Amino acid sequence: MELLAFLIPFLLLGGAVVFIAFSGGPGKAREAYLTRGGRGFKLAIPLLYLVLGAVIPALILAGRGQAAGGNGSLKSADLSEEEQRGKDLFRQACSSCHSLDAVNARGVTGPDLDAIGQMTPERVIGAIEKGGTGQGRMPANLLPSEDASAVAEYVSKVAAR
Ligand code: HEC
Repeated sequence: MELLAFLIPFLLLGGAVVFIAFSGGPGKAREAYLTRGGRGFKLAIPLLYLVLGAVIPALILAGRGQAAGGNGSLKSADLSEEEQRGKDLFRQACSSCHSLDAVNARGVTGPDLDAIGQMTPERVIGAIEKGGTGQGRMPANLLPSEDASAVAEYVSKVAAR
């Protein structure tokens, strides 16, 4: 919405350009066209730039909405409430150590969760309870079990996609 507010002055400017371009009336416009060749055309070009440069990107950005922060098929639009909660928890509790493309996490202390084989919910819950594979390299019990299962649901849905 702020984006639209930002664009409105430009759109008004575009409208003003059109108005001025055509306010000479059809007769004068025709005369100008025949004598000076394409004055309206010269004014139409900046307008075209406006449409291509501002209006279309604005529509695309507005359409992205919910998808911000996700990429491709991993966008958040099709997450359930529980998965969305898992995503938020992952950002807080896991992304500092793990990579996960779906949230743009780039942690390097722990393994890249897109790259270590299938992420089943059981495996993720197990990792949270034991601390990774239980060798003391990942802290155990980072999250209470309801939160762990939300994270597990989310990670198993998006990992390696
Ligand atoms: C302090 C850093 C750190 C944090 C925070 C952390 N991890 Fe880990 N994690 C690790 C390390 C290091 C390993 C590899 C050691 C191992 O597998 O025992 C690991 C391993 C894992 C594995 C792989 C286990 C397997 O089966 O191979 C999973 C899954 C995992 N972490 C999930 C998570 C989740 C989910 C969170 C957030 C709740 C999280 N981690 C938070 C460091 C971390």
